[in-house]
Amino acid sequence: MGLSELSKLEALNSNKLDIIILHSQKGGPGKTTLSCNIAHELAKRGNKTVLIDLDIAQPTIQHIFHVPDEDIAITINDILLGESKVDEEALIKTENSNLFLIPAKENVEYGEGLLSLLEGIQQFSFFALHEMTKFLQRMGFRYVVYDCAPGYRMESVNAAAIADARVFVVRPSTFSFEGAKQMLTDIYKKLDIRSLNFFVFNQLPPDLKKENAELLETWQEEIIELYKPEKISFLGFLPISFDIMELGITGKYIFPESDDLYVKLTEIVDKLIKDIDEMKKKKK
Ligand SMILES: Nc1ncnc2c1ncn2[C@@H]1O[C@H](COP(=O)(O)OP(=O)(O)OP(=O)(O)O)[C@@H](O)[C@H]1O
Ligand SMILES: [Mg+2]
Repeated sequence: MGLSELSKLEALNSNKLDIIILHSQKGGPGKTTLSCNIAHELAKRGNKTVLIDLDIAQPTIQHIFHVPDEDIAITINDILLGESKVDEEALIKTENSNLFLIPAKENVEYGEGLLSLLEGIQQFSFFALHEMTKFLQRMGFRYVVYDCAPGYRMESVNAAAIADARVFVVRPSTFSFEGAKQMLTDIYKKLDIRSLNFFVFNQLPPDLKKENAELLETWQEEIIELYKPEKISFLGFLPISFDIMELGITGKYIFPESDDLYVKLTEIVDKLIKDIDEMKKKKK
């Protein structure tokens, strides 16, 4: 499928449903933490939201929301492989009545090695993602948040292609920064059909030395210049929070309102909502 054909698919997405993905080149910068908290915050504000685990090699969201295995009838793997049609049974309720989950399950058969042998499956999986988007529209969802796997996995790249907003998460380290630049150039620019692009630095140590703080400012500018200033926005620097790490020991990953990270999260969500709305208004 060429890019011109891909762009025709844009028409399939109505103005009412916004798709946000969290992605990174390297593992571990905080995609899952941020996607769960962004989805939770969107739902808390009254938006019907679904959080989908696209990290099928290492699924996590069912653990974050404490969903017992026996409650998971349909996973994203089943939907993308065409083994289950997406229906209401796939949507798992949470304590927040506006927030639903579609978890993944570890599935070696869905690995890249085998995938490359299965003719047509890449395209199929892309259309399955689209069918799911149409189903979620019919169900009245306002936001879909995809927690992607790091790197160039097919399902992450597919989600990047259909997203309204792509949030790229970067750690304050040279390899995370170099990886971010590489992926933005290799994939994002090439798939730049409909999406807004954002990036955020997460897990900043406290009390940075002045020269390191300055270096991070230059990285921020470099990423913006590399992409194009009008096509990518910086969402900010998020500190490493020892309170959040400690809460994780007892299985709590949603930021308490009293935590500084929660305040930063609300600012991120404000900006995502505002920028997506503005982009869609312009397109009308
Ligand atoms: N700002 C933060 N402060 C403290 N801990 C954090 C912060 N952000 C993420 N973490 C912790 O860092 C670890 C990795 O985060 P997370 O699982 O969200 O990253 P990820 O990008 O989804 O990783 P993967 O690439 O493996 O999917 C987790 O233990 C999480 O609780
Ligand atoms: Mg993750």
